[in-house]
Amino acid sequence: MALVSSALSASAAARLKLNKTISQRARETVLFFFYGEPFSIMAKPLRVIGFGVGAFTHGMLSVLKEKGCDVSAYLTRPYGHYGPGLVGPTHDCAAFPNPCTLLQDGVDLVIPQSIDWAERPWRDEFLKLGLPILCPTGEALLLERNRDFARELCQRFQIPFPVAQVARNRLEAERILSDNPRPYVIKNPLCSPTSPIHTIVCETVEETRSWLGRIDYAEGVFLQEYLGRAEAGHIALVSNGEIHSLVTNQEYKRAFAGNLGIVAGAPLGGLVEQDPGDKYGLAKALLHPLLPWLREVKFHGPVQVTAVFKDGRWQVIEYNVRLGVTSGPMILRMLRNGPDCLVRCARDEKLSLEFDSRQPFGCSMTLAGYGYPYVQLQGPQLPVYVDEPLTCDVWWNEVARGGDGQLRMTGHRICDVVAMGETLPAALRKAKENIRKIRCLGSYYRPDVGESLWPPGNV
Ligand SMILES: Nc1ncnc2c1ncn2[C@@H]1O[C@H](COP(=O)(O)OP(=O)(O)O)[C@@H](O)[C@H]1O
Ligand SMILES: [Mg+2]
Repeated sequence: MALVSSALSASAAARLKLNKTISQRARETVLFFFYGEPFSIMAKPLRVIGFGVGAFTHGMLSVLKEKGCDVSAYLTRPYGHYGPGLVGPTHDCAAFPNPCTLLQDGVDLVIPQSIDWAERPWRDEFLKLGLPILCPTGEALLLERNRDFARELCQRFQIPFPVAQVARNRLEAERILSDNPRPYVIKNPLCSPTSPIHTIVCETVEETRSWLGRIDYAEGVFLQEYLGRAEAGHIALVSNGEIHSLVTNQEYKRAFAGNLGIVAGAPLGGLVEQDPGDKYGLAKALLHPLLPWLREVKFHGPVQVTAVFKDGRWQVIEYNVRLGVTSGPMILRMLRNGPDCLVRCARDEKLSLEFDSRQPFGCSMTLAGYGYPYVQLQGPQLPVYVDEPLTCDVWWNEVARGGDGQLRMTGHRICDVVAMGETLPAALRKAKENIRKIRCLGSYYRPDVGESLWPPGNV
């Protein structure tokens, strides 16, 4: 049975009456047992609010709405408002700097797109509301937020993690490089979408040295040994002290086909495969050893590990504690009881995942616009054309519809085209078929998603 929130308020009942057809309402009627006596009431849809913008929030909220939830968005950034606005009511952080007032009537689930909510001045007030948040809090959040904390945890539980160290300034960074010369990937020590630096992948000592002279040390740097390109990820929900594997995934992080170009700020494509049994072994090697700590800190929420296969074993390069843009909406499509699972996870309750065996694979392809991945390059707000009807999901990112009704790009990442399939080739074919229908001057995508880096361990 679907999770049903408590009592029906008069205003919600009125809203239901207005919004639902009789047949929809009939489907939502559920039986309750009150002191042993069965009676039925109209189930109130789960109220979900997404904190975010763009394709992630558009995708998550769309699928949740399809599955019967009542959705809205708190727009946390000044771009990417178009997609979420297609799904339900939105509230702009420019008008509501503190979202707590929006939440006073209660919601059943908050889905943050990133962990930066925990750095906002309203954080404590928000937490006091006691709402179910699909994101761990407190020490549990540090697994993503603080890279050196994750490294220490891996050391404590003997999980392979590359040689890594924090440097506070350029002098320290250069000393680390000369004392221990290796190619290093340069990262922000504290993860946030607003960090002064984003990951720079260097593959040789000389490349590392060149970049160390050119970066902003305001928050220091995390230098992590470069491990090569045999990368993969695994995503699970942690709830009630247990790890529930969802998918193994791949992200195509390089900007151009053939895995050429730089590792872009966000991936150009993604694959997910249902993997409750952990067939590639990433969860066993890199998540399950953390179980004592996950329990100790009452971790509940999503966990994603990104890893590289080197020297005969998987090694952690980072953990995330949220569903990502290239996986979240696909995962929701893969679960028959997705909304129920997310709410239960946010409440730290026992989970029972029900996978939809008709679509074990998903593929996401990003249409990037003029200037990407060099986001300093700004083009005009070029028109975006959709030439034919679309037959899979399209989650809009940095676009807006002008007064003339024309869709225009307002940034570098236009949309994500997302298809599910019974097989990987079927999902890939469908995504490709559809992304070709969308164009914008100078736009491009990676037509080779799925052709490399899969199955996990390959390059
Ligand atoms: N130590 C490493 N060795 C090889 N590649 C790496 C390493 N660290 C990061 N990368 C590459 O850079 C990407 C982004 O790094 P990651 O640590 O996931 O940070 P973020 O996602 O916060 O940018 C990875 O997905 C991977 O492709
Ligand atoms: Mg990452």
